[in-house]
Amino acid sequence: MLILVTGGAGFIGSHIVTALHAAGHRVRVLDALLPAAHGTDPAPPALPDGVEWRHADVRDRAAVDEALAGVGAVCHQAAMVGLGKDFADAPHYTSCNVHGTAVLLAAMAAAGVPSLLLAGSMVVYGEGRYDCARHGVVRPGPRLAADLDAGRFEPPCPRCGRPLTPGLVDEDAPTDPRNVYATTKLAQEHLAAAWARDTGGRAIALRYHNVYGPGMPRDTPYAGVAALFRSALARGQAPTVYEDGGQRRDFIHVTDVAAANVAALDALPDIAPGTMRPYNVATGAAHTVGELATLLAAACGGPAPRITGAYRLGDVRHITASAARIHTDFPWTPLTPFHTGIPLLL
Ligand SMILES: NC(=O)c1ccc[n+]([C@@H]2O[C@H](COP(=O)([O-])OP(=O)(O)OC[C@H]3O[C@@H](n4cnc5c(N)ncnc54)[C@H](O)[C@@H]3O)[C@@H](O)[C@H]2O)c1
Ligand SMILES: [Zn+2]
Repeated sequence: MLILVTGGAGFIGSHIVTALHAAGHRVRVLDALLPAAHGTDPAPPALPDGVEWRHADVRDRAAVDEALAGVGAVCHQAAMVGLGKDFADAPHYTSCNVHGTAVLLAAMAAAGVPSLLLAGSMVVYGEGRYDCARHGVVRPGPRLAADLDAGRFEPPCPRCGRPLTPGLVDEDAPTDPRNVYATTKLAQEHLAAAWARDTGGRAIALRYHNVYGPGMPRDTPYAGVAALFRSALARGQAPTVYEDGGQRRDFIHVTDVAAANVAALDALPDIAPGTMRPYNVATGAAHTVGELATLLAAACGGPAPRITGAYRLGDVRHITASAARIHTDFPWTPLTPFHTGIPLLL
C-alpha cells in the first residue's frame, strides 16, 4: 500500500518513514520544511531509496490533492509543535494544525482515502489523573501563579485542598487542553472523528507522550525538555530544571513511536468504520524531569542540573499514561527503556 506521511521530514515523521519503508510499504512524504523545525535555508530531507518527496504545505489543497493520488492511508504528522514563543504564535499554530488538518481531511474525503493515522499528543489531557485519600479520582484545575511563585508546585485536591497522589491517565480520561498547542492537537482529533463519521473512514490517533531520540529538534522555543537539556550540556552548561524537578512524565524513544505507527497501520482494519480510536503511546513507566537532567548530565560528565524554581504557566505538573490499551490491541512493545535510551542522546 502507498502511504502518505505528512511531516515526514520532521523528527518523528522521518523515523516513521524509515520504519514503514523497512516494513515493505511504499511511502510518499509531504513536508513544508517549516523554519521552526528546519531553520531558514532547509535542504530536502535524505529519504530511503524509493521514497517519494513532495515539498508542499498541508494547507495547499491542490498540492495535497496531487500527493493523495494512489494513496491507501495517510499518516498525518505535520504540525507546529511545542509551546511556541508567546501568544502571538497562536494564529500560525491554528493555521498549520487545525486548518491544515481540515484541508487534508477534505482532500482525503474527495479522493476516497479511507484510512488515517493521526499524531496525537498527551497534551490533550491537561493535568494528569490524581487520587485524593478522601475524594478518590479528582481533576485539579490549572495551577495558580501565586501557588507556583510560592513554590507550591503540586496541585492540591480541588475539593479539600489535601495533597494528591498522581496516577496513570487512560484514553477515556476527559480532555482538558491547557495551551494553544494542546487546543490544536485536540481539534485535530475532533476533526478526524468527524471525517470518519462523515465518510465511513477509520482513524487512529496515537497520543504520543514525551518523545526523544536521534534527530530530536534543536534548542528552540518549539523543542521539548530533553532537547533543551542536551543543548545546555553541549555548551558545557548545567541543564536548568523548572519547578523542583519533580514533574513526572513518560519518556518514549522515537523508534518505539515509529514502530507503534507501523503496528497501528496494521490494526486500522480492526477499527469500526466511521470511528476514530485514541491510543496512548507510552512506556507506562514514569520518570521525573529532574531524573532526566541528572541522567543526561552524568552520561556526559557535565555539570549537575540547576533546579531553578521557575515555571511556565501552560505546563502541567504530572502527566503519565496507562499504556494498557495499546498493549492489548496491538502487537507492540517499547524496546528502549529510559535508562538505555537517554544516555544515547549525547
Ligand atoms: N516530539 C514530541 O514529543 C511529540 C509529542 C506528542 C505529539 N507530537 C506530534 O508528533 C508530530 C511530529 O512532531 P515532531 O516532534 O516530529 O515535530 P517536527 O517539528 O520535527 O516535525 C513536524 C514536521 O511537520 C512539518 N510541518 C509543519 N507544518 C506543516 C504544514 N503546514 N505543511 C506541511 N508540513 C508541515 C514541519 O516542517 C516538520 O518537518 C506532530 O504532529 C506533533 O504534534 C510530538
Ligand atoms: Zn480531597
